Amino acid sequence: MTHPTSRIPGRRLLHSPGPTPLPDAVLHAMSAQPMDLADPRVDANIAACETGLKRLLQTDASDVFIYAANGHGVWEAVIANLTDTGESVLVPGTGHFSESWAVQAEALGRPVVRTPWREGFAIDAAAVEQALRDDKARAIKAVFAVHTDTASGVTSDIGALRRAIDASGHPALLVADVVASLGAAPFAMDALGVDVAVGASQKGLMCPPGVGFVAVNGPAFAVAERNPSPRFYWDWVRRRNDLSYRKFCGTPPQNLLLGMEAALGLIFGEGVDAVWQRHTQLARAVQAAVEGWREGGALGFFAQDPASRSVSVTTVTVAEGVDVDALRTVARERFQVAIAGGLGPLTGRAFRIGHLGDCNPAMILGAIAGVEAALVAQGVPVGSGGTQRAVMSLAGH
Ligand SMILES: Cc1ncc(COP(=O)(O)O)c(C=O)c1O
Repeated sequence: MTHPTSRIPGRRLLHSPGPTPLPDAVLHAMSAQPMDLADPRVDANIAACETGLKRLLQTDASDVFIYAANGHGVWEAVIANLTDTGESVLVPGTGHFSESWAVQAEALGRPVVRTPWREGFAIDAAAVEQALRDDKARAIKAVFAVHTDTASGVTSDIGALRRAIDASGHPALLVADVVASLGAAPFAMDALGVDVAVGASQKGLMCPPGVGFVAVNGPAFAVAERNPSPRFYWDWVRRRNDLSYRKFCGTPPQNLLLGMEAALGLIFGEGVDAVWQRHTQLARAVQAAVEGWREGGALGFFAQDPASRSVSVTTVTVAEGVDVDALRTVARERFQVAIAGGLGPLTGRAFRIGHLGDCNPAMILGAIAGVEAALVAQGVPVGSGGTQRAVMSLAGH
């Protein structure tokens, strides 16, 4: 039995869809002494993060607000700034994460209109359009859309949602959760007509958990300015300030931001297009392996439409009788590959392989082979050649 604190020989491969592995340059950048708040390096670091995030989000029309918070924190920032208690939001169903955001809004006293989640499929833009047309009283203030639902492994078409909102003639703002897609899949905030984008540090951004951010365009900021709902820490109006202490409503998370500046530098150094291409290439390799495994009859893709399969994470369904927790334990403790389980309604029905962030072909092949070894060790039929198919995919055959 391996004790959790005992030494792990070699590297354990981290293939959860967040947190993701940290590049050495990010680790090194964070290992610095904190600075006094008047040190000009503090402001320079914050400015670099704001500018870099705007560049990555492809927005000139927005202000970025950064929080010492996780994704749930910035979800709450959006709810608190864009809506007053009693005002409704529309949350299109994409799986566990859209539902979690909806539940959070309801807990804060905001009624939620949901469009149905069709398991394994992306957001139904036509259903969104219809729900907005049906809202004759214009009670819905915003549409909260999850770009990549990390539980489903499905990426939705944000442009189609924008067109649906426009076609309905409804004034609701469009908010996109890019927590799992930013730095992995193409996203251009201004061109897509997104009013608010919501992200977090621990996935495609290759940083530790603990930093969340929003980009807010003019119309969305104006809504926040008019919103009488009481709020303090999350308040965009309060945070729009030149002083770093005010921007962060207190002390900025300096070392995490040093890491973020380094990570953004790595992304721009590689080239954003190249980063997206790398994610597509690695996702294809994982999908090729799953194609092979599913010939054994026990595994399959949760995302039914190949075009909506995420480049960040692949959700693999398992037949009844496959013990996902035991599989994950064997993969992690015996083969040193950490993968994620199913979430919400997929608990016990799926496992997930993350392939985003600081990831390369050798890491992906190691992860796939390690998962295949764990499947075999657990007696799960995997057909033949899953790993071989991934090799062929990466080799361009
Ligand atoms: C798409 C998406 N949104 C929001 C969250 C919530 O983020 P956090 O766990 O940092 O609160 C997650 C977490 O995995 C996510 O994948």
